[in-house]
Amino acid sequence: MTLVSGSGHGVAMPPGWRLVRFDTVDSTNEQARRLAVGGAEHGTVVVADVQTGGLGRRGRQWISPLGNLHCSIVVRPRRPVSEIAQLSLVTAVAVAEALGDVAPGLPFRCKWPNDILCRGQKLCGILLESDVNGVVVIGIGVDVNSAPREGMLYPTTSLQAEGGTAGVDAVLAAVCLRLSVWVERWTVDGMASVRDAWLNLAGGVGELVAVRVSDERTITGTLVGLDADGALLLADGREGQTHRIVVGDVLFERPRT
Ligand code: BTN
Repeated sequence: MTLVSGSGHGVAMPPGWRLVRFDTVDSTNEQARRLAVGGAEHGTVVVADVQTGGLGRRGRQWISPLGNLHCSIVVRPRRPVSEIAQLSLVTAVAVAEALGDVAPGLPFRCKWPNDILCRGQKLCGILLESDVNGVVVIGIGVDVNSAPREGMLYPTTSLQAEGGTAGVDAVLAAVCLRLSVWVERWTVDGMASVRDAWLNLAGGVGELVAVRVSDERTITGTLVGLDADGALLLADGREGQTHRIVVGDVLFERPRT
């Protein structure tokens, strides 16, 4: 692991944020967590060209070659611990908007809880980890130049494959800027504005989706929307009830343009 720069090589950061750049790390989430244990402040951004042990959700591996964005942000939330999971949706909104900034015209969509899709294909994953003291590490992987994942639950793509021309640093700067604004908005106003923004970016309300809530159980139903705390609401026609889902993977979605 080599520290390339403590000042981020000129990538613009939001006020009060700072960038720590590595050529190779095991996982930027792990590195950010180590820095947080050592006292790293809110807004410390760790970025690495390559990860040798990139982490995905549910213990999956996140293949992390040169040319894609791998970054993690230390966040010290000023909201109750019970609300910390909402940062998944906060981040998804911020990243979808940031991608729209650097690749205007491409149809980026949020898929619950925190994937970003383009034309029905995943190009960004978000991994939120928090410790007992309530410090949160938000890990963001954007497939900028290549989509190295196979055998996923859904198809994958990269920004470049979709026609985007922005490089890693431009995506990083846009993500950090949008995220700093959304974290502040959430800190002050809570979930309401995030929920509206997420629903606008997600679309799909009223459509049929399947959600894998565990290895054994998949629920199919009509997407009703989000509960006030960000849980997914799914109307199950057969059982005549509304499911409130807090953990899961949305499996099928009709590709949208
Ligand atoms: C997912 O499974 O969709 C979440 C993937 C999150 C990947 C990012 S890449 C930067 C950060 N460091 C990691 O080890 N994982 C996250």
